[in-house]
Amino acid sequence: MTDLPSTGPMRGVTSYGDPGFSRFLRGAFLAAAGYDKEDLSKPLVGITDLSSDYNPCHRGVPAIVESVKRGVLEAGGLPMVFPTMSLGETLLTPTSMLFRNLLAMETEELIRAQPMDAAVLIGGCDKTVPAQLMAAASSEVPVLIEVTGPMLTNTYEGQRLGACTDCRKMWARHRSGELDAAQISHVEGALATTSGTCMVMGTASTMACMAETLGMMLPGGATPPSPTGDRLRHAVATGRRAAELAREPILPRQVLTRPAFLNALAVLAAIGGSTNAIVHLLAVARRAGVDLRLQDFDEVSDHVPLLLDLKPSGQGYMEDFHRAGGLPTLLNALSGVLDLEQVGMSGRSLADLLSETSPPANWQQTIRTLGQPLGATGALAALTGTLAPDGAVIKASAATPRLMQHTGPAVVFESPEDAAERLDDPALGITADHVLVLRGSGPVGAGMPEAGSLPIPRSLANAGVTDMVRVSDARMSGTSYGTVVLHCTPESAVGGPLALVRDGDLIRLDVPSRRIDLLVDEEELERRRSELKPFELPERGWRRLYAETVLPASEGADLRFL
Ligand code: FES
Repeated sequence: MTDLPSTGPMRGVTSYGDPGFSRFLRGAFLAAAGYDKEDLSKPLVGITDLSSDYNPCHRGVPAIVESVKRGVLEAGGLPMVFPTMSLGETLLTPTSMLFRNLLAMETEELIRAQPMDAAVLIGGCDKTVPAQLMAAASSEVPVLIEVTGPMLTNTYEGQRLGACTDCRKMWARHRSGELDAAQISHVEGALATTSGTCMVMGTASTMACMAETLGMMLPGGATPPSPTGDRLRHAVATGRRAAELAREPILPRQVLTRPAFLNALAVLAAIGGSTNAIVHLLAVARRAGVDLRLQDFDEVSDHVPLLLDLKPSGQGYMEDFHRAGGLPTLLNALSGVLDLEQVGMSGRSLADLLSETSPPANWQQTIRTLGQPLGATGALAALTGTLAPDGAVIKASAATPRLMQHTGPAVVFESPEDAAERLDDPALGITADHVLVLRGSGPVGAGMPEAGSLPIPRSLANAGVTDMVRVSDARMSGTSYGTVVLHCTPESAVGGPLALVRDGDLIRLDVPSRRIDLLVDEEELERRRSELKPFELPERGWRRLYAETVLPASEGADLRFL
């Protein structure tokens, strides 16, 4: 097998000091796996398999892998499947975000180290697609993203139910005493009933929409629910296209341009997407060499209104979005503010693709138009101020309008654990006017968990309070809602102003002015700064490497050296 081409399985042979021997040896071992000379002469498409018992959202992945493989074979390619780590949001501690960069690094290195002429990366649950996009941006071969797709909804006592905006709403009703233990137990069994990712516009759905808008996923791939034939057919088409790309490559960095990111930001605003997408897109852009900043999100969001009626900003679920024609229909509705010259991995311009879009008759039940939007512009706002000199974000579309300008005294929690322990303590005397401050939850401090949406203290929840201003250096789930200021940078662990807040200090939130301020004079802050104890780094392993090298949230929280 030494006369085979240097593409396909013979690409980048292992170094044994004698290239001929290296090819001979690789051929011998592949022969043991049943590959013959004809197989080895084909372009090779690597396919990731992130199925894992620890990732329930990915239980539909095996069927998707098979579909991608079939597409590759049909188009004359050779598919080879390989595992990477699988990040299941609800089964990782302290937070899956701590491992996003590890998956990105693993995927990038396996694409580089293993022979493949193109790759299909199949993700779904929150951090998997961001990590795969980051890996793609650093890749030297064509990459297509495919996702597991969202779950289908269920009902509870006649009410439509889906993960995970309803998880929070139902739990809040349980906390306030409205649902008893038996009822909340029923809800637990009804929230997530099929394979797939959370079926609201949470982080998984948002990042699927981002991958499609960026051109890294074939059109129509963001919305087909996981258990459907639509999902499998999209996976087959992805396999076919990947085999074509293996012969005629388009590289991810040719697709991941600044105009493509600006298109993605417009979609992010129009879908009321997750604030987590801000950190993820900043990380992908940095790897792609694109200058993207927090202010870009604010500027784009400022002129693009909310068009999509999905929870948590609206009422529907991903299956409704899919029935309304999915992302191509939304892109059509948004075409007036998009750069239509962008060419994605499909090899065709957005203008070309949209000219073939034919929305179903009732699409406006779920997707509105720029002329008659569902919500105002400014769904995502970037803030600065004395509490976050390098930036913070708020999802204004999911916040309470009357709290968008609010001044109140701080109640400070040192960590998510501290908040869990003390939040309901009546001795704290928390009122609805207080500002709940959570620190120790940034990238260095704790890997940036989704802890920013602190629950309303029980006594206030019982009294009917549904929202309060909350401020932190943490993230929040894309399925969350409320007046929650997130990603305060610099974070408290590196001495950011959040570390200086004391109980009773006044904090002023002014979203229209894009400000978040700590109303304490500079002399007092300087005194407090001099008393700060340095953050203790984790002792060893990945957490140590992460804490030592992670960038701030405002730069995407990738590792500095990647
Ligand atoms: Fe996996 Fe929501 S927990 S997507």
